[in-house]
Amino acid sequence: MQAHELFRYFRMPELVDFRQYVRTLPTNTLMGFGAFAALTTFWYATRPKPLKPPCDLSMQSVEVAGSGGARRSALLDSDEPLVYFYDDVTTLYEGFQRGIQVSNNGPCLGSRKPDQPYEWLSYKQVAELSECIGSALIQKGFKTAPDQFIGIFAQNRPEDLGRANRRKPKPPAPEDLAVICFTSGTTGNPKGAMVTHRNIVSDCSAFVKATENTVNPCPDDTLISFLPLAHMFERVVECVMLCHGAKIGFFQGDIRLLMDDLKVLQPTVFPVVPRLLNRMFDRIFGQANTTLKRWLLDFASKRKEAELRSGIIRNNSLWDRLIFHKVQSSLGGRVRLMVTGAAPVSATVLTFLRAALGCQFYEGYGQTECTAGCCLTMPGDWTAGHVGAPMPCNLIKLVDVEEMNYMAAEGEGEVCVKGPNVFQGYLKDPAKTAEALDKDGWLHTGDIGKWLPNGTLKIIDRKKHIFKLAQGEYIAPEKIENIYMRSEPVAQVFVHGESLQAFLIAIVVPDVETLCSWAQKRGFEGSFEELCRNKDVKKAILEDMVRLGKDSGLKPFEQVKGITLHPELFSIDNGLLTPTMKAKRPELRNYFRSQIDDLYSTIKV
Ligand SMILES: *[C@@H]1O[C@H](CO)[C@@H](O)[C@H](O)[C@H]1NC(C)=O
Ligand SMILES: *[C@@H]1O[C@H](CO)[C@@H](O)[C@H](O)[C@H]1NC(C)=O
Ligand SMILES: *[C@@H]1O[C@H](CO)[C@@H](O)[C@H](O)[C@H]1NC(C)=O
Repeated sequence: MQAHELFRYFRMPELVDFRQYVRTLPTNTLMGFGAFAALTTFWYATRPKPLKPPCDLSMQSVEVAGSGGARRSALLDSDEPLVYFYDDVTTLYEGFQRGIQVSNNGPCLGSRKPDQPYEWLSYKQVAELSECIGSALIQKGFKTAPDQFIGIFAQNRPEDLGRANRRKPKPPAPEDLAVICFTSGTTGNPKGAMVTHRNIVSDCSAFVKATENTVNPCPDDTLISFLPLAHMFERVVECVMLCHGAKIGFFQGDIRLLMDDLKVLQPTVFPVVPRLLNRMFDRIFGQANTTLKRWLLDFASKRKEAELRSGIIRNNSLWDRLIFHKVQSSLGGRVRLMVTGAAPVSATVLTFLRAALGCQFYEGYGQTECTAGCCLTMPGDWTAGHVGAPMPCNLIKLVDVEEMNYMAAEGEGEVCVKGPNVFQGYLKDPAKTAEALDKDGWLHTGDIGKWLPNGTLKIIDRKKHIFKLAQGEYIAPEKIENIYMRSEPVAQVFVHGESLQAFLIAIVVPDVETLCSWAQKRGFEGSFEELCRNKDVKKAILEDMVRLGKDSGLKPFEQVKGITLHPELFSIDNGLLTPTMKAKRPELRNYFRSQIDDLYSTIKV
């Protein structure tokens, strides 16, 4: 029986005469009732309350009339995207001033030395330090103008000469550049994305708007900062915290000490990336190493996942006390908000961790070019497998990608973003800027999305067959295939990777003409088919491919970690090649699904 069922049972009208009935009972029955009542009180006190969603979850976005199919957040009252949530916060500077006020000059930035508690700088101390740094830069000949750039290369830290030469701060305007954020982007060379105060403030405002009445950051909140600040995702989260007067505690700079930092800091807000979530997931299941433990873990997570589906998210159920208490306290025991972004997270991992950690847990989607987020899951929608609805600061539309057969009319296409959070272009690179931003101001992300019936967006593919691995590296498979194809025994290669996996694998069709003689020189005998089934031949071919890859300058993450040998060529006839002899990648992926799954489940890296 579930908690809320039990609760409903005890509200039954027959129990109104309860007290009179009790008087007639013998003592040990009464003691039994006492225990029962205590239990009931426990259930009552901890009965699950669903979180009230801010909109109808079956309609999370709305089509904007006359926009060519663009959709906006259902949280907006008009088609005009949100720019500012607070009237007095239009720049990062003003956001910080607000933080000084609402926190009443409370603790702002904290750091610690090994085995020591956190030491805090107050909001005014931080303001003074930053004025000193600014004054020092001016003293060194910099001007208070937005056309000069300063490179900062450092770990996240609150500490960056100006004390003797103080100047009054000159607050920035919303249109001034706030940062140039370098991004690897999809094609080789890093590009400097120009991001203004207005960009950042609108993205932060949209987060605040979307989670209004459900998150409400306040000066009691503490953020653990360990993701690189060069990452716009981390910056946006920090800006949201600072304008609400919350505290930011920096990790010691060593990811291996993060668990210790969490215990000491006891953060309430914990931004994460999928890699960390995958590690947590593996660790929890690794510790359940007896049949009984495993059964209990499965059972408890199923009960809590059922609650998630009815919108209930909590950390005080029986299952939390019995099973999940340990993992919750390993994060410090106070986490109430988590946000994952930067790369896709698997639905299984996200759902399990939402259940196990019992805190509000959002998934965001976006890129540096739209400041960080353009979609965010809606409060109360704890289902996984989509990236939520457009954030209130931007519209999203899908555009046709004919060569890949994705059509906007069918609700599929390249994800395009327009709004005050879209960046100004790449520094000194008009060509790349024109590729990313079209003449109407839409940012083309290169991701292929699909609208789900409830107005949420699902990312289903990547344009130009470029994709990201789990650690966030971009892979261009065709380039890698062209290198491997130079291996003597290889006729065709299909390199495959997945955003949920950290490494690449490949399906290799050996060359009928060369395989036998090549293998013979290495001491292998047999027919073509027999050789294709021989594990040692497979190993020798993989070694030859990796050697060629290394010689051609492939990075370690661009090398495949495992292959399957397939005796039959990909052809136009079997539907795996286009009439122009190009690989049909989605078809290849489906055709070799079981081999791909086998490779991923057997290779441990
Ligand atoms: C099971 O995990 C516990 C720690 O959770 C460990 O102490 C124990 O050695 C493990 N047992 C086996 C059989 O791996
Ligand atoms: C449980 O959640 C509440 C509210 O979100 C939070 O205040 C509390 O610290 C959490 N406890 C644990 C053990 O995570
Ligand atoms: C939204 O739609 C998707 C796909 O139909 C579904 O998986 C998800 O559960 C839905 N979300 C809600 C809150 O109903």
